[in-house]
Amino acid sequence: MSDAPRSTLRPLVILISGTGSNMQAIVRAAQAQRWRERYGAFVAAIISNRPDAKGLAWAAGEGLPTAVLDHKAYPSREAFDAALAQAIARFDPDATARVVLAGFMRILTPAFVERFAGRLVNIHPSLLPAFPGLHTHQRAIEAGCRFAGATVHLVTAELDQGPILEQAVVPILPGDTPETLAARVLTQEHLIYPRAIERWLRETGG
Ligand code: GRF
Repeated sequence: MSDAPRSTLRPLVILISGTGSNMQAIVRAAQAQRWRERYGAFVAAIISNRPDAKGLAWAAGEGLPTAVLDHKAYPSREAFDAALAQAIARFDPDATARVVLAGFMRILTPAFVERFAGRLVNIHPSLLPAFPGLHTHQRAIEAGCRFAGATVHLVTAELDQGPILEQAVVPILPGDTPETLAARVLTQEHLIYPRAIERWLRETGG
């Protein structure tokens, strides 16, 4: 099947800050499940706020366009987010891109979230609404939780809130450390993030 006409193309712009293992899982799923043919969806760019993010090299090796916007080079959160929106726009001529936060460790301004409302998705390593914010695994262990997990959700102005698209649950085992628990949760993230995006593409047009 030839490429979908431009008006029906749905670019995905993935934002990362580090390893980008979730980004890798999404790229692989898009290839294996032929998202471009089925939904017109393709990974248009990987953008990192950290020049040293390991995921950048992986993406470049895949032939994917990459860009770096070092947040330290901007005087304010607002200035960084405005530049980030411009960087996304370069890969998104029709302003229809879905923006996928994949281990992107920046809090976004309300103006940015508003601009991409309904097109912005995140994965958070806890069973939201429990444990928004940082250090989720340590906090879940300290609270005596028996289960932890991960949540894919649409992004709204409030941190780690927004409609839930997908969740996965993992047990917290005796002797777990934040690191062992994080590793167990991450394997589930790699399953639910591509699955959530695929369903989001399938169920929402435009
Ligand atoms: C993931 O656990 C994500 O949920 C969290 O940071 C980690 C990023 O991993 N916010 P990666 O960069 O996708 O490998």
